[in-house]
Amino acid sequence: MTRKGILLAGGTGSRLWPITLGTSKQLLPIYDKPMVYYPISVLMLSGIREIAIITTPDDQPQFQRLLGDGSQWGVSFTWVIQEKPEGLAQAYLLTRDFLDGAPSAMVLGDNIFFGHGLPEILARANAQEAGGTVFGYHVSDPERYGVAAFDADGKVTALVEKPKVPPSSFAITGLYFLDGRAPDLAARIKPSARGELEIVDVLEHYRAEGSLQVERMGRGFAWLDTGTPGSLLDAGNFVRTLQDRQGMQVGSPDEIAYRQGWIDAKGLAERAKVFGKSSYGAHLEGVLKE
Ligand code: DAU
Repeated sequence: MTRKGILLAGGTGSRLWPITLGTSKQLLPIYDKPMVYYPISVLMLSGIREIAIITTPDDQPQFQRLLGDGSQWGVSFTWVIQEKPEGLAQAYLLTRDFLDGAPSAMVLGDNIFFGHGLPEILARANAQEAGGTVFGYHVSDPERYGVAAFDADGKVTALVEKPKVPPSSFAITGLYFLDGRAPDLAARIKPSARGELEIVDVLEHYRAEGSLQVERMGRGFAWLDTGTPGSLLDAGNFVRTLQDRQGMQVGSPDEIAYRQGWIDAKGLAERAKVFGKSSYGAHLEGVLKE
């Protein structure tokens, strides 16, 4: 079955209050684009065209205004509401009907990935039909994330959420390729001490049966944090530095749709026109002229 995408973009964004009192965190700018463009780009780079977008009830109209039905990019969006942020794993319960037994790739709406070879590692994860693939990334502050523990042979022995004493420096990023059993497994777990259905508890089922791949993203990759005002600014500056230096865009769903052949030159030209004189519009014009 063809893999489907889930973009989880709910939550309260409380670590960014008061900025996120009036708008969703995932709609904030990362330099010249809304944050959510970056994780959508990751799903599209993976070749995924059917995507469920999960938001809070309040924020859904703004996301719909920004993203429409996906046809501008040759993809389709299905809109799903999460009433309360009761955990990442709840996303699989909310999308059970949408997935209809298909394998999935879920990305958190505030996770930004950039790196040489990203399309290749995404294609590998997509090609693996049974079990799951997640990505480990070396960080200086693993206690803030889900963390993988490894044995001497490099085999994963446990996954722990925000451990006080991290068993390794490898955080599990917010991108999860799981097979069609994910909703059933999510239905079996219980809320954690902090009252959430934890993604690591779903992943633990796969790990225990030996079907979880933990792919390490090496030092050539950027997995950017957007969790605090400072890291949000840093992420924007990182994107700006790269784009200005290279004259290429990071996280442009329009460009990806065009390169995937999901929209043609006419479609891209229409999009460039929509964005008029903005730098994003100019970039799309540039892609057309290549
Ligand atoms: O970013 C990667 C990390 O994301 C992983 O390493 C952790 O294992 C995973 O639990 C998660 O940790 P966070 O502490 O960053 O989770 P947070 O509660 O901030 O939620 C992450 C995003 O998902 C955020 O944009 C809000 C959204 N969210 C969160 C929850 C709990 C929802 O849309 N619904 C929810 O119920």
